[in-house]
Amino acid sequence: MALKLNPHVVSPSRKLTSFAMPPVANVGLRSPRFFMASTLRSDSREVGNSKKPFMPPREVHVQVTHSMPPQKIEIFKSMDNWAEKNILVHLKPVEKCWQAQDFLPDPASDGFEEQVRELRERAKEIPDDYFVVLVGDMVTEEALPTYQTMLNTLDGVRDETGASLTPWAIWTRAWTAEENRHGDLLNKYLYLCGRVDMRQIEKTIQYLIGSGMDPRTENNPYLGFIYTSFQERATFISHGNTARLAKEHGEMKLAQICGTIASDEKRHETAYTKIVEKLFEIDPNGTVSAFADMMRKKISMPAHLMFDGRDDNLFEHFSAVAQRLGVYTAKDYADILEFLVGRWKVEELTGLSAEGRKAQDYVCTLPPRIRRLEERAQGRAKEGPTIPFSWIFDRKLKL
Ligand SMILES: [Fe+2]
Ligand SMILES: [Fe+2]
Repeated sequence: MALKLNPHVVSPSRKLTSFAMPPVANVGLRSPRFFMASTLRSDSREVGNSKKPFMPPREVHVQVTHSMPPQKIEIFKSMDNWAEKNILVHLKPVEKCWQAQDFLPDPASDGFEEQVRELRERAKEIPDDYFVVLVGDMVTEEALPTYQTMLNTLDGVRDETGASLTPWAIWTRAWTAEENRHGDLLNKYLYLCGRVDMRQIEKTIQYLIGSGMDPRTENNPYLGFIYTSFQERATFISHGNTARLAKEHGEMKLAQICGTIASDEKRHETAYTKIVEKLFEIDPNGTVSAFADMMRKKISMPAHLMFDGRDDNLFEHFSAVAQRLGVYTAKDYADILEFLVGRWKVEELTGLSAEGRKAQDYVCTLPPRIRRLEERAQGRAKEGPTIPFSWIFDRKLKL
């Protein structure tokens, strides 16, 4: 695991839970192209008075750029008509889309204050650990500028002008616009419920957008769309689980909110997995190699550089709570991988090159290996520490 290479950023919780980047470092060889850059932030003091105007990202890998051979850009150009017919259909017209206001008290209505009071009463029944997970999910959604930037790093599919009319660019802008409602809705719910420290949360969002993300997709749309396929499914699972738990806590409105967001993620997953399915059809060797490459590097979660100005291991701590509550776990990571292997019929690929066959074997045998390692890690796991979360006014939670 990448983080383990630097003692400054290893938290005790990391040994217990590692869903974001399961401990599969021993499973495959890390490409020699990649090694860790030094960690730029190593203490955990409040940095409010720091002389540095911006916090650097906590850790980034050596940045590999433009790893797709230039001639393959033609593949994406030749897919324009296909993408228009097959991908844009997964966007919903704005007039048919839900908006955050559909789920929230209407500030223009006479009943607003009463509706807010009711919302706050219902939210009182929900435990702190649930809120920490919901906040982490919301912060992840709120870093949307980073994800649109990431999509626009991808060679052959980026939005070259900001209003480009290629189907890829139309998709990316409309996808962003759909996603934008997720953070909006969760943010407004959390604001109204009165259970969380909004200022700390807002700082976390500002830090995170400033830090960006390091998905190691190398401007390479093969890697990029494999990454987004994985991520959309991960968010589908995670929002689905926060919906289920909200229902268990009797907050049906919040369950509906999280469930509605989850169904958007599912639709996005369908689109991204379809792109990769098509790439498998056109270029099976290149696509299976990209899949193996992405999985060797491990899928880092989009908010892995999260920081609130206090907790240097905030992402690991949030992840530990998400794992304990079953919102997103190491098992989910292996399940998603297994799902994608099946979705893209990777086992059934024939006629591959030697390198392709090696990549095929790697990804097809990876899910059970991840599960075995995770079970072993769970068996060794000691009781987690109890730590404060600034998002809930420094109340402490067990990891
Ligand atoms: Fe989302
Ligand atoms: Fe999404």
